[in-house]
Amino acid sequence: MTQDELKLAVAQAAIAYVVEGEIVGVGTGSTANFFIDELAKMKDKIKAAVASSEATAERLRAHGMTVLDLNEVTRMPVYIDGADEINASGAMIKGGGAALTREKIVASVAEKFVCIADGSKLVDTLGRFPLPVEVIPMSYAVVGRQLSALGGEAKLRLKDGQPLVTDNGNYILDVHGLQITDPMALENAINNIVGVVTVGLFARQGADVCLLGTAEGVKTLK
Ligand code: 5RP
Repeated sequence: MTQDELKLAVAQAAIAYVVEGEIVGVGTGSTANFFIDELAKMKDKIKAAVASSEATAERLRAHGMTVLDLNEVTRMPVYIDGADEINASGAMIKGGGAALTREKIVASVAEKFVCIADGSKLVDTLGRFPLPVEVIPMSYAVVGRQLSALGGEAKLRLKDGQPLVTDNGNYILDVHGLQITDPMALENAINNIVGVVTVGLFARQGADVCLLGTAEGVKTLK
């Protein structure tokens, strides 16, 4: 199976977690895009969606789905999103698509986080994928030095030779070379750096369920 076929398989499996008549939180990225296309097939059975990025909101609307502002929402049974890496405990690295802040905020409202990922994303130790950190633009140099002091190498993410600007108007530092043996401790430590908006470590609130696409079929990790 190709990676895209594995992503489609987990996106289809995730539909079983969507609660009819309720609001669903929707992540960002290529796997989430497969999920959005599957969700569109049952759009009349859900109340609305909340998007974790402008790109996701646009794709949902293009399918004719209602996209709500999170401020209008008090109950969200499930949030469904991909990951760049996930470990057996459900801790994840996210933010490869630069949407980590809105992803973490929308996920925080959901009762259940369902991660959908192809099998290549499952790791023993998080950190081979560079850890994204969203920062206030004026702070990227000082935050970068503090992140590097934690043992990695922080690099400003560029797009077309310029700093990539997130949906929130901020920059992303990608921290290379980390071996994250205690994800929760590192999430707390990075959260404490002044200038950091969000770290793409999802350990304090990890995935409740992971649907992993493998050659043997979709495996469910809980
Ligand atoms: C975006 C994310 C994505 O979930 C993550 O990058 C995985 O993306 P893909 O499904 O394209 O591999 O965190 O900010």
